[in-house]
Amino acid sequence: MFIHQVITIDGPAASGKSVAGQVLAEKLGYLFVSSGHFYRALAWAADRYKIDLSKSEVIARWLEQLSFQHKIIDSELHLFIDGQDVTSHLNDEVVNKLVSPLAAIPVVRNFLFTRFRSLADQYDLVMEGRDIGSVVFPEAKYKFYLDASPEVRARRRANQGIIDSVTQRDQQDSTRTTAPLVIPEGATVIDTSNLTIFQTHQAIEQMMEKIKILS
Ligand code: CDP
Repeated sequence: MFIHQVITIDGPAASGKSVAGQVLAEKLGYLFVSSGHFYRALAWAADRYKIDLSKSEVIARWLEQLSFQHKIIDSELHLFIDGQDVTSHLNDEVVNKLVSPLAAIPVVRNFLFTRFRSLADQYDLVMEGRDIGSVVFPEAKYKFYLDASPEVRARRRANQGIIDSVTQRDQQDSTRTTAPLVIPEGATVIDTSNLTIFQTHQAIEQMMEKIKILS
């Protein structure tokens, strides 16, 4: 059982988890963690080191010897692979393409599961992802699930100037065998389809209210 507080936010791509999570974490003084960044950092490294993703033993051996660290810089989590800060590469086109197939591999998920759990030994967390409330912290007291229509989510990514097949990633994330995207038991579902920035703040207030009621 972790000793720190954990708030989980799950949902499909571009459902507003990051913005909501960051604001919520700031308000509460918790550390914000995008679990997707960890998967993305590994996808970047797998491409860089030309790792054969079809062979679990190869991936396991690679992960064992990989130098993969995190540091908190100005209240933000930065990820380092072999000493290089990979933050600026997390939305590279190749990463968007590789990340979901990589995240479906059990050995990768197990590797990151341990990392995520150990963060809660050190910090109060707002962590967002696909399986945070269902698999990583099923015992968390406060769980949220953000959703929006596929059209709205695709538009959001396009507006950010990011080339990303949101629909394809959703499909892969929801249909995989290990830790698929689901609404975690006990999660509060918030539909963000029509949310402007102002309304997003209202959604966050709704989350804060819920947290106050439950605590
Ligand atoms: O921000 P966006 O919703 O586009 O994605 P992300 O949170 O950065 O996650 C990128 C990918 O990592 C997802 O499409 C999933 O394939 C994978 N992921 C996962 O499998 N489990 C998580 N807890 C977080 C991300």
